[in-house]
Amino acid sequence: MNFTKVLTNWYSINKRDLPWRNTKNPYHIWLSEIILQQTQIKQGLPYYEAFVKNFPTVFDLASADEQDILKLWQGLGYYSRARNLHVSAKHIANDLNGKFPKIYSEILKLKGVGDYTASAIASICFNEPTAVVDGNVYRVLSRYFGIQTPINSTQGIKEFKSLASSLIDIKNPGDYNQAIMEFGATQCKPKNPYCIVCPLSDSCVALQKSIIEVLPVKLKKTKLTKRHFNFLVFLTPDKKTIFEKRSSKGIWQNLYQFPLIETKKQLTPEDFYTLREVTSYLNGMNFKYRLFNTKELVHKLSHQHLHTRFWIIEIDKLPKDGILYSKITDYPMPKLISNFIEAFEF
Ligand code: ADE
Repeated sequence: MNFTKVLTNWYSINKRDLPWRNTKNPYHIWLSEIILQQTQIKQGLPYYEAFVKNFPTVFDLASADEQDILKLWQGLGYYSRARNLHVSAKHIANDLNGKFPKIYSEILKLKGVGDYTASAIASICFNEPTAVVDGNVYRVLSRYFGIQTPINSTQGIKEFKSLASSLIDIKNPGDYNQAIMEFGATQCKPKNPYCIVCPLSDSCVALQKSIIEVLPVKLKKTKLTKRHFNFLVFLTPDKKTIFEKRSSKGIWQNLYQFPLIETKKQLTPEDFYTLREVTSYLNGMNFKYRLFNTKELVHKLSHQHLHTRFWIIEIDKLPKDGILYSKITDYPMPKLISNFIEAFEF
């Protein structure tokens, strides 16, 4: 049996029973694939179910408030994916009469849809033989064929896409694509893969050469930025705090947070009291302040580490409009902030 046949046989026996595997509805497959780019299947499942329940059709998603979509997405990170889902749903509902595009090249035109998602939808829903290449596919192919080209190099991207395309099962491209991803997720895992019981072990180059652990090769390209975030958590006698929408470009667009002061380095309490941003914000008002966490909390995003502290400020009257503590969880917010709110217990 060849590679493709072994994989699809393996899949027919070992695949997990998942709700998006019982449908070819492109809207549902699209939702599942966008969610699964953010997280593993187990963690993604409740998000998928919540989206399908709250927005059963593309029209429902299109007419939703962005804030409600972001709230459902909360905790997945990479919020631009949720905003792009909304933009594309509106486009499909309003400009395409609710008809999901049916071919790879048209699906690819949707905002937020790249080669991976377009290939997954076209193959699973419309039987088009377009090969998916995600992290699982890179791992399985690089190991089985012993390929050491870095997967994030221009050459690597081309080489793996072309190899994946040459292996696809023309009759069942959707099953083949899901088979190789599922195989990567549950069998040919990043750490401690199950080589002893692997149906491809006889012909796996990496296993023969004992290089399983070093594959796939990835270039370290991006520089990490270290940032210092100081959030101002106001407390008033009438139980209000300031919670505002991030409007700036960059991370967490349109999510809510406490007023933020970004500094070049960690502040001492004395620095904080005399900081121009603080004095101008509080404009001569009396307040008491303390640190919730003296040690900076490090929140890791893909290219930046946010060294974060929460400053608790007790004040009689807020310097601008606030919201009741009891309403705070109604707003969509980054994980860093929801973790704080949970720990702080207003
Ligand atoms: N990971 C992301 N999408 C997947 C799918 N459709 N099947 C298996 N694993 C996946």
